Amino acid sequence: MKILFKNIKKLIQVRNEPLSFVSGKEMKELPTLKNAFLYVKEGVISDFGPMKECPDIEVDEIVDATGKMILPAWCDSHTHIVYAGNREGEFVDRINGLSYEEIAKRGGGILNSAKILQETSEEELFQQSKQRLEEIMEQGTGAVEIKSGYGLNIESELKMLRIIRRLKENYPVLIKATFLGAHSVPENYKNNKKGYLKMLIEELMPLIAKEKLAEFVDIFCETGYFSVEDTELILEAGKKHGLVPKIHVNQFTAIGGVQAGVKYKALSVDHLEVMRDEDIESLKGSKTMPVALPACSYFLSIPYTPARKMIDAGLPLALATDFNPGSTPSGNMNFVVATACIKMKMTPEEAINAATINGAYAMGVEKEAGSITVGKKANLLLTKPINSYGFIPYSFGTSQIESVYLNGKLI
Ligand code: NIG
Ligand code: FE
Repeated sequence: MKILFKNIKKLIQVRNEPLSFVSGKEMKELPTLKNAFLYVKEGVISDFGPMKECPDIEVDEIVDATGKMILPAWCDSHTHIVYAGNREGEFVDRINGLSYEEIAKRGGGILNSAKILQETSEEELFQQSKQRLEEIMEQGTGAVEIKSGYGLNIESELKMLRIIRRLKENYPVLIKATFLGAHSVPENYKNNKKGYLKMLIEELMPLIAKEKLAEFVDIFCETGYFSVEDTELILEAGKKHGLVPKIHVNQFTAIGGVQAGVKYKALSVDHLEVMRDEDIESLKGSKTMPVALPACSYFLSIPYTPARKMIDAGLPLALATDFNPGSTPSGNMNFVVATACIKMKMTPEEAINAATINGAYAMGVEKEAGSITVGKKANLLLTKPINSYGFIPYSFGTSQIESVYLNGKLI
């Protein structure tokens, strides 16, 4: 299948040289080509350039993009889209004054979702999860990381990870799986966190490694959940099984999780709503990508990741949704990009870099996705006719995406 996009008003995020990620001042630069063509062959970006160099070749389809722009599909490096049921009851409890932490202490929160998931059949869970995946694909996500972490026992954690594998096999979107057994201490280990971690490390991790069910390992490093010491234990064990760390840190309190992530060469450290100067300092010069989740801050009314401070200190930053039933029941990357601009004072260039190339790096797919580069997957967003790409985050409640192409196929 050969498709030629012609007369593209602006081709956005054009990178001729392969690039891992952009940081600091570079994040303000978003390379674009005006009045461009883009040639897609067998699902891969094969050529692009100015219209005056557009090849005169036989193709299966020509798309006239007059007035419209093309950018790489969003790379959402942090989600929990495999879950059962919803938690709108807790949403109302929060409206009525309870905090996220208070709800969790009463047995709500993650444990509530774990209970429902354990009682849901694998087939039913797959059906619920695939609906969310299809929704985010339509909204423009071309690569997504999905975590376990609502199973909290051997059988249900494996059930979640097998569903992620099944999604990988059945959808054109790029998917990476993360083992998040250490998301919360389950009821049956209530006073035995050590025992739970021992079970995860000695029994569950070897099974996951044997079936190759995950690429990454995660832990909720947070006061009341897992300590820095627990985090190091899990990351050390993950390393033995070839699982690269991507961790939840500094959501409500700063306890040294960022430093542990850097020490264990985490691919990313995520959340970062509460950042001390020493946390920012520790990320400098590392290959660990900080990831902000503004839709979570929005939904829980907690602080936003101090993006300005971090980028101005020279750090890179990625944006992701955190799609999950408790803190972020939305997987809309368009909303995330807009909220980053509106609430975190990121420029449209910074936000688009953070949601494409840097997001791809944060989930290890930067060689396949995240930019318009020859050889990368043709995961593309074609906009409606717009004047400038700043209009995408500006018109925050309305999608400016007209169509989504994954592996060169219209979704
Ligand atoms: O990333 N913070 C930890 N985990 C999820 C929320 C989980 C839940 O509330 O179900 C998050 O926000
Ligand atoms: Fe999360």
